[in-house]
Amino acid sequence: MTKTTQDSSPQSPRQIVEADAGRVLIFDTTLRDGEQCPGATMTFEEKLEVADCLDQMGVDIIEAGFPIASEGDFEAVSAIAKRVKRASVAGLARAGEKDIDRAGEAVKHAVKPRIHTFISTSPVHMKFKLQKSADEVLDLVSKQCSRARNWVEDVEWSAEDATRTEHDFLCRCVEAAIKAGATTINIPDTVGYTVPEEYFALIKMLRDRVPNADKAIFSTHCHNDLGLAVANSLAGVKAGARQIECTINGIGERAGNAALEEIVMAIKTRNDALPFNTAIDSKMLSRASRLVSAVTNFPVQYNKAIVGRNAFAHESGIHQDGMLKHTQTYEIMTPESVGVAKTSLVMGKHSGRNAFRTKLKELGYDLGDNQFEDAFNRFKALADRKKHVYDEDIEALVDEGIAHMHDRTKVVALTVIAGTMGPQAATLTLDIEGSQHTVQATGNGPVDATFNAIKQLLPHNGKLALYQVHAVTEGTDAQAEVSVRLEEEGRTVTGRGADTDTLVASARAYVAAVNKLMVKRQKVTGAQSAL
Ligand code: KIV
Ligand code: ZN
Repeated sequence: MTKTTQDSSPQSPRQIVEADAGRVLIFDTTLRDGEQCPGATMTFEEKLEVADCLDQMGVDIIEAGFPIASEGDFEAVSAIAKRVKRASVAGLARAGEKDIDRAGEAVKHAVKPRIHTFISTSPVHMKFKLQKSADEVLDLVSKQCSRARNWVEDVEWSAEDATRTEHDFLCRCVEAAIKAGATTINIPDTVGYTVPEEYFALIKMLRDRVPNADKAIFSTHCHNDLGLAVANSLAGVKAGARQIECTINGIGERAGNAALEEIVMAIKTRNDALPFNTAIDSKMLSRASRLVSAVTNFPVQYNKAIVGRNAFAHESGIHQDGMLKHTQTYEIMTPESVGVAKTSLVMGKHSGRNAFRTKLKELGYDLGDNQFEDAFNRFKALADRKKHVYDEDIEALVDEGIAHMHDRTKVVALTVIAGTMGPQAATLTLDIEGSQHTVQATGNGPVDATFNAIKQLLPHNGKLALYQVHAVTEGTDAQAEVSVRLEEEGRTVTGRGADTDTLVASARAYVAAVNKLMVKRQKVTGAQSAL
């Protein structure tokens, strides 16, 4: 085991917090807790893209994954550790030596490596999940932290299910963790059970009662089962926590985690009531939200705070009238502050490369050369079919490209016979790892025929759990965005596709879901299911 020494130039999380009493560290766990939610699997390349975006945005700590969970998780954490320039990179580990060593190996090349190790401390978890006594758990707390500390200077310890843990025992565990080398103490509301006043009191109690509490940074990690994750996290900060664990769009186990964008904008907008600050460039929030939605195929609900499509839309006459008189009548923050640009360029089939590049910049995209060429060609094809190309069209088009960039299988051609005279039939050509295959199938309707054709070429036992279509913009020539969810042997995956032809969008979404199913099949899920 080789201990990683840190470069002296970048500031450690502790130094950042010590230099500014109001500074709150943003710990993003989109790639770990977020990816754990059913259907949100990301490919290796997608994870790197999300990590780059988080680093650029100013996230302090990126939890890149759970290295022992699978070879793929290890590779992703290790690659992210090597490429991230600014943020700390954390790998998750349970209390076992193998877990901790695997996490240490994965993060060792990071500029600022962190091991995040956890164990359950609540009576119900210790008895039924761990089948260990309180003394055994306490002993493991010290062991896991000192083993992690042999790898890195920066060790985070979490008391899983802390909000349902007896206070005396929690105090003893926290004290032991700090004594053994933990530099951050995370107090998860694993089951989303707490309420703000209670969580405030819990963090305060720990900071008051644990003798060595001043040697660690306290952290919040709140799940959203009662819709209180953000409120609880902010209550924790008011009680002295200086790290918040959160995810983009609030994705995560069950009802998800505290949403990063909501935390950042609450602190920024209500700085009078929440006198804290973060290092997040809020203008990147919208872009990060779209990227995560595209790669996980998880649509963002329309009325989602900060990043939902309607978050800045004013529909009623009274509101519109007020907005025209003065924007502050109904707007507590500007769309620009979260990266929603005011449209200055209207795009159409005569728009050239330069205008398209400028538009992408306005919308917050920074594409590589190949991605740009691909997006531009698809924009031209769309503009040929659609008179007005709106910002939402361009977002759907670029996100579609990002989501399908690394797919092994792609839709090449689709012809469908639909109408009243059944059976409906589909002729489909797929490119499967470089070679083209064509089949014909019939079905009970054109969508069924299309999906049957895909199934012939890509056999699987996935059950269609969701098929959803929505129009990206108004008008009969609008692009359709289709979401498909498949369930196979306890695995859930989602796929998304967009096109002016609803059936083509449906085929792309279905193929994307099957692609994800194949990635997921390769994953060893045993370790993950233990969380
Ligand atoms: O919710 C939780 O308790 C977790 C821990 C692993 C930190 O995600
Ligand atoms: Zn969690």
